[in-house]
Amino acid sequence: MTESSSDNLSNLLHETRTFPPSGEFAAQANVTEADFAQAEQDRLGFWDTQARRLKWRTPWTETLEWAPPFAKWFVGGTLNVAENCLDRHVEAGLGDRVAINWVGEPEDDTRTITYAQLLDEVKRAANALTSLGVQAGDRVAIYLPMLPETVVAMLACARLGAAHSVIFGGFSAQAIHDRVTDADARVVITSDGGYRRGAPSGLKVNVDEAIAKGGTAIEHVVVVKRTNQDVEWDDTRDVWWHDIVGGASNEHQAQAFDAEQPLYILYTSGTTGKPKGILHTSGGYLTQVSYTHWAAFDLKAETDVYWCAADVGWVTGHSYIVYGPLSNASTIVMYEGTPDTPHRGRWWEIVQEYGVTILYAAPTAIRTFMKWGEDIPNGYDLSSLRVLGSVGEPINPEAWIWYRRVIGADRTPVVDTWWQTETGAIMISPMPGVAAAKPGSALRTIPGISAEVVDNDGTPVGNGEGGLLVLTEPWPAMLRGIWGDPDRYQETYWSRFQEQGYYFAGDGAKKDEDGDLWLLGRVDDVMNISGHRISTTEVESALVSHPLVAEAAVVGASDPTTGQGIVAFVILRGENVEGADTVAALRNHVAKEIGPIAKPRQIMIVQELPKTRSGKIMRRLLRDVAENREMGDVTTLTDDSVMNLIAAKMPTAASED
Ligand code: WTA
Repeated sequence: MTESSSDNLSNLLHETRTFPPSGEFAAQANVTEADFAQAEQDRLGFWDTQARRLKWRTPWTETLEWAPPFAKWFVGGTLNVAENCLDRHVEAGLGDRVAINWVGEPEDDTRTITYAQLLDEVKRAANALTSLGVQAGDRVAIYLPMLPETVVAMLACARLGAAHSVIFGGFSAQAIHDRVTDADARVVITSDGGYRRGAPSGLKVNVDEAIAKGGTAIEHVVVVKRTNQDVEWDDTRDVWWHDIVGGASNEHQAQAFDAEQPLYILYTSGTTGKPKGILHTSGGYLTQVSYTHWAAFDLKAETDVYWCAADVGWVTGHSYIVYGPLSNASTIVMYEGTPDTPHRGRWWEIVQEYGVTILYAAPTAIRTFMKWGEDIPNGYDLSSLRVLGSVGEPINPEAWIWYRRVIGADRTPVVDTWWQTETGAIMISPMPGVAAAKPGSALRTIPGISAEVVDNDGTPVGNGEGGLLVLTEPWPAMLRGIWGDPDRYQETYWSRFQEQGYYFAGDGAKKDEDGDLWLLGRVDDVMNISGHRISTTEVESALVSHPLVAEAAVVGASDPTTGQGIVAFVILRGENVEGADTVAALRNHVAKEIGPIAKPRQIMIVQELPKTRSGKIMRRLLRDVAENREMGDVTTLTDDSVMNLIAAKMPTAASED
């Protein structure tokens, strides 16, 4: 165990397993070590080269104009994002290639859409939106389930130079209201409803309620028919998608827009209640999502079947369901429903059925599958898979190993990709044909990207030490600001290391002895035990490395002697049942794995953990429970009954020792 200064994050967990790519994989890989060297030598030249993957109408005159913290990439260049995702592929003779294999939640409800068909539909939708008055520079809100129409709507906006603001289909009327008023959207595209665990739930009803609150600029609501449920109808405002899009012409010329034309706003939660509208633009964003989708997943567009299992309402869905994959003319799978509907093998049935070759998922899903047991995936033929990806949270080494062994047959590279809504695209990730992967490590920045781990003063930490993750150079897909709030943009991301000009990501990280990067979770979640700054991620990973444990969440709760004490909430695997022995065994296991300092004061065995709708554990709420406090805001939870169950189990006594 290494003890670093109390200012820095301790480096506790030592993971020594490595997984180099097979010789066969490395030999055919898209990216080689030479790409890193080339990008290192000439960073802007490297991005210039990557931008040439796209079709530009006017070439740019300057690669980067950097007036910190405001960037413009590919200055003077013009392009159309939708044309890059559709028209140019059809013109290249790829019209018959499948763009979307769509799988509905109800079984046998599927659609196959080629590039030519998708282009046709996007042209109609662009004409339909134009007829509603949508123009370049406007904002359009999209509140839809995982439907092909969602992709069509996004691309139709892009085609018109209007920014979309996709609002996750699980959000409430209040959340819709906040977002459409902040973005000043004039049109909302929604559906009658969507399927969730077998039952149709209403969506338009939430839009109606949001508009009824008043103060929005919404003039039109376009409604996709999905569930056939009854909806309220306002003739002056509401139109059916099938009427307006179905009846529109499929002739539409895509216009060229400036590289910095806003492409979308995506709201992400901040430390205060008000969500931040993260703004992304066109040329730089598309360059980096296109490159990273090709590079990190070793994409072979002619043969791969690529499935990103995120929701399109999150940035992962924007960048790696829609813009990255379609700009690369790849064939994607898009699944509407949950992993356990109608049975817990649904994902693996889809992989088998469509011959999925690349799967991109979140650690929360992987740990859920671990909990359900490996017999389920073992019942399917997963041999088509050749690359696995992870995103959204630190992946515990044991979950990483399980993913590779059970899903990847101990054969596929696993890429742990670190990035954020704000970064727009993958920033830190192994390149599958180059790296000897380490379970739980995102390894190093991709070519063309620069990051550091620094202490509170902005000085880089040494190998074997932990600190704060910063990005030291601007990157093409970087956020261009927070919608309508330049001060908050400066303050949130650029004020902490203003002197050095670093972007502060808000994540803790460490460098191992080789200088490779390990992400340690949000800085707000770091615990301070007797003056040692310990990351929740490392203790959670130690717990998950015990064969009984599927998932763990750890928080620091105030403690009269140590400042904070570690409280762990643990979900057991499969049918394992709790007992006093289990808790003692787990505490000792952590002490053995990372040292006595990290031994949890308390361990609670629970059935579920509180998660945001994108699958991140909400440690803030667990802290409230651990400190016997009244619980904070639970509105962003997927299921708020979870917290009541956990709170009911919590003893009021402080320690078990
Ligand atoms: C976390 C999702 C560790 C991190 C694309 C980041 C990760 C936040 C990883 C952004 C990873 C994402 N390892 N942590 N591979 N990927 N994170 O905006 O805390 O939903 O700051 O974007 O997720 O979440 P967001």
